[in-house]
Amino acid sequence: MEQRTLTFSIFRYNPATPEITPRMQDFQLDENPNMTVFIALNRLREEQDPSLMFDFVCRAAICGSCAMLINGRPQLACKTLTADLPDHITLMPLPVFKLVGDLSVDTGTWFRQMCETTEAWIHTDAKFNPKAEEERMDNAIALDIYEAERCIECGCCIASCATANIRDDFLGAAGINRMARFLIDPRDQRSPAQVFEVMGTDEGVFGCIGLMACDFLCPMEIPLQTQLALVRRKMMAAALSCKCKH
Ligand code: SF4
Ligand code: FES
Repeated sequence: MEQRTLTFSIFRYNPATPEITPRMQDFQLDENPNMTVFIALNRLREEQDPSLMFDFVCRAAICGSCAMLINGRPQLACKTLTADLPDHITLMPLPVFKLVGDLSVDTGTWFRQMCETTEAWIHTDAKFNPKAEEERMDNAIALDIYEAERCIECGCCIASCATANIRDDFLGAAGINRMARFLIDPRDQRSPAQVFEVMGTDEGVFGCIGLMACDFLCPMEIPLQTQLALVRRKMMAAALSCKCKH
């Protein structure tokens, strides 16, 4: 592997010191074999600037904390090899989410709000009986639920979404995927009308303008286009059945 010296242009701004205007700061770093953007950022912080802010927990594409714009594209820093990037790498924080500082954003508040709006829990009147045998579920349904559950709440789909960038109440692909998970689950007893109230709106599926960058950029490769189609179909059916009753 040819030894390269990489230039990182990194967004710097700390909302706690608003008198210092946002700026891009350049750092140089010798590339190592198998270096990820996450490893590079750690080295920059250890060797050149301890004040550099960015998030990570797992370093293994599991926690979703390290998403950022890498050369303009939402990606996980711990999953992105510098070998796949040019010599000059620009790092910016994800848009849409509240900036904590430099590359660190608060995705937690956004995802909590999304979970509250979609009421992301099983709605059932069934009483829990700790002594009862486990309820069985069809394997194919369990696998479909698991597919939606693989979301690591990184925010890449939201950052890449045109609608989410202009309206802060849009539930985005992550919200639609979350609702799909409960629509698939036979234990959830919400009526189509109840779901329609949340998803059959411009904050839900009808806010999507179909650019589908979310589907292309999701690091977990969740089939977001399929999830959107599923929720849209259910919402259309709910709308038609309401019209028929009136
Ligand atoms: Fe990240 Fe994919 Fe979940 Fe969106 S759906 S938050 S891109 S893992
Ligand atoms: Fe957990 Fe990158 S550090 S996903």
